Amino acid sequence: MSTHRPVVAVYPGSFDPVTRGHEDVARRTLRVCDRLVVAVAESSSHSKSHLFSVPERLEIMTEVFARERRIECVSFTGLLVDFAARVGARFIVRGLRAVADFEYEFQMAQMNRELRGDVETLFLVPDLGYSFLSASLVREVASLGGDVSSFVSAPVLERLQRRFS
Ligand code: PNS
Repeated sequence: MSTHRPVVAVYPGSFDPVTRGHEDVARRTLRVCDRLVVAVAESSSHSKSHLFSVPERLEIMTEVFARERRIECVSFTGLLVDFAARVGARFIVRGLRAVADFEYEFQMAQMNRELRGDVETLFLVPDLGYSFLSASLVREVASLGGDVSSFVSAPVLERLQRRFS
């Protein structure tokens, strides 16, 4: 009988919309876990106006990750650490693009540890080609008619074109 307990990780975020940088972090995470829950937060620490609703973001992400059998896309309300505990996650995964990300990520990781010490935060570095990429820049460039086709996958591009046509 196998004693291996599947390693579950949660990758939380706003994902408004999911970018190729997010996809890169999610796929890298599959190297260190058995199952990845990509989780769209209904409430984000970043107070910002959203482009897509949570159900829309979820629909887009489900299409983007359709071929990844070990990735599940869900939304959650309430505290991230409580959600992570509910799905049995051992890790919370966050992408670190540059030093500028560090302070915010460090604060969240420490707060999450205070709230619940049994879930570790794991930082992964995306491909260098995505180090400048953010969902907010994608939103802005797309809204002004710029070409974002190299920054997002087809399901995202389609929704952005529909939204801004
Ligand atoms: O993509 P984002 O907006 O940087 O992600 C931030 C997110 C969703 C990870 C953060 O706001 C979060 O965890 N929200 C859930 C509510 C919560 O647990 N807040 C306390 C964070 S220390």
